Amino acid sequence: MSRADMDKQPDEVAGMFDGVAGGYDRTNTILAVGNDYLWRIATARAVDPQPGERILDVAAGTGTSSATFAKNGASVVALDFSPGMVEEGRKRHPGIEFVVGDAQQLPFDDEVFDAVTISFGLRNVNDPKLALAEMYRVLKPGGRLVICEFSKPPVALLRAGHRAYLKLVLPVVAGLSSSNPDAYSYLAESIEEWPDQGVLSQWIRGVGFTRVAYRNLTAGVVALHRGRKPADAVVLASHAKRKRAARPKAGDSGASTPPTAPNTSGTATDAGDL
Ligand SMILES: C[S@@+](CC[C@H](N)C(=O)[O-])C[C@H]1O[C@@H](n2cnc3c(N)ncnc32)[C@H](O)[C@@H]1O
Repeated sequence: MSRADMDKQPDEVAGMFDGVAGGYDRTNTILAVGNDYLWRIATARAVDPQPGERILDVAAGTGTSSATFAKNGASVVALDFSPGMVEEGRKRHPGIEFVVGDAQQLPFDDEVFDAVTISFGLRNVNDPKLALAEMYRVLKPGGRLVICEFSKPPVALLRAGHRAYLKLVLPVVAGLSSSNPDAYSYLAESIEEWPDQGVLSQWIRGVGFTRVAYRNLTAGVVALHRGRKPADAVVLASHAKRKRAARPKAGDSGASTPPTAPNTSGTATDAGDL
């Protein structure tokens, strides 16, 4: 079992984030060479907060991600299971409602949010598929999911450069700028072990989201994933049933549907709206 797996034990992860809460945002900006600002703008655009909407930011940390959604009259709930991060967040963003809670067992009723988003958090969750299912549950029908997460550059040369950065540069920079460099060794390992854009898209689809798509940011160092909870699951199920019934059966007339070619573009997938 790797260190990233071991450290994914909820208590250990929460304790680790408690320990870095104060300097967390500064270290991140240094490690991302300022790109975090652009990633956050792209995420906020994808979430597209509207007046009167309720938006849930899961694994919100100190609320840096949440603050970008609290505009246009939308109300944001920031959830995180690290009390240290939440305490720091409440100090920094008094206008945002912070909740201590687990992404795998969201403390909310079904279908209460217009949009659910998670930035750089899903990778840290012990069971990411369970967290995705929870996000689906609390979204209203037609609601939007936006995930911003580290990913894998699709171009081999860039991927090799990225791996070298994680192994060689990140530990040194984190050692100089963070109070807990160990937390950043975990960061490097967890990014390496995290699945690529295609696999995460399958997980999102797997819990029921439709219109699943992603867009690479900074050449795929980060990917922005989106999905929708179907507006009416019953209507969609009956559409799918009708489509299946209308499909010619094997051997009917020799006119079978060719299999869909896999997407190899490395930039976006699916019938999405990116
Ligand atoms: C890298 S930080 C991201 C914070 C913030 N979203 C941002 O973009 O700056 C990851 C956060 O995930 C939280 N986290 C990890 N697992 C969690 C879980 N199961 N439930 C809630 N929060 C979790 C950690 O406490 C940490 O604050």
